[in-house]
Amino acid sequence: MTILITAGPTREAIDPVRFLTNRSSGKMGYALARTAAEQGHRVILISGPTDLDVPDRVDFIPVESTMEMYAAVEHRIAKADVAIFAAAVADYRPAHVSEEKIKKTGGTMTLELVRNPDILGSARNQFAYQGVLVGFAAETEDLEENARSKLESKGCDLVVANDVSRKDIGFDVNDNEVLLVFPDRTEQPPKDTKQHLAHIILEHIIELTPVGGPN
Ligand code: PMT
Repeated sequence: MTILITAGPTREAIDPVRFLTNRSSGKMGYALARTAAEQGHRVILISGPTDLDVPDRVDFIPVESTMEMYAAVEHRIAKADVAIFAAAVADYRPAHVSEEKIKKTGGTMTLELVRNPDILGSARNQFAYQGVLVGFAAETEDLEENARSKLESKGCDLVVANDVSRKDIGFDVNDNEVLLVFPDRTEQPPKDTKQHLAHIILEHIIELTPVGGPN
């Protein structure tokens, strides 16, 4: 199967030397990409900037901004049997990117932000994607409820939810603890390494495909 995976953070430029970003290391998305490639799937890994080695045998598409990630996904998603959105995507970007390095002036500075497109939220409508759609949910409260609402509003088959208020899991650490939120049930595998959880998550995802399902 062909599996498209987004991973890592996005960078939203403010001027030539500054940007807005987040704490995503890419570890969760890369673990999924590595595992899927080892299982013999064709993997398209669309990634924001990370310090990680690119897993062997993946088609690697490096991007920086949300708009670049959007275009990369739009261009390739039709080829994918499964699309997994593990990237931590900026919801807003600076309204204007200064061509020159911004100089300090007064004691305060206001940065105007505009909404970025929701890439996962565009899959079913704008991209007319009909394959298995897996989102992530980075939450600090009401994990299951918020994940279920993302599942429904974005037309996902599965949302992998993690509590990003915890220091031992989530952003930029080797372990994670996730809730697997399906339309008809929720499962909670035990806390584990992202690499091992990637196997468990992919096993559940394969079951959702026509190849892996009961029919
Ligand atoms: O990279 P690591 O350090 O290993 O950390 C892993 C992780 C915490 C980043 C990962 O497990 C995770 O939770 N990824 C999703 C982060 C996120 O942006 O969650 P969200 O709840 O804000 O977004 C919901 C979903 O919509 C996600 O699938 C996200 O990729 C997607 N999204 C969000 C905004 C946007 N503009 N476009 C999107 O596609």
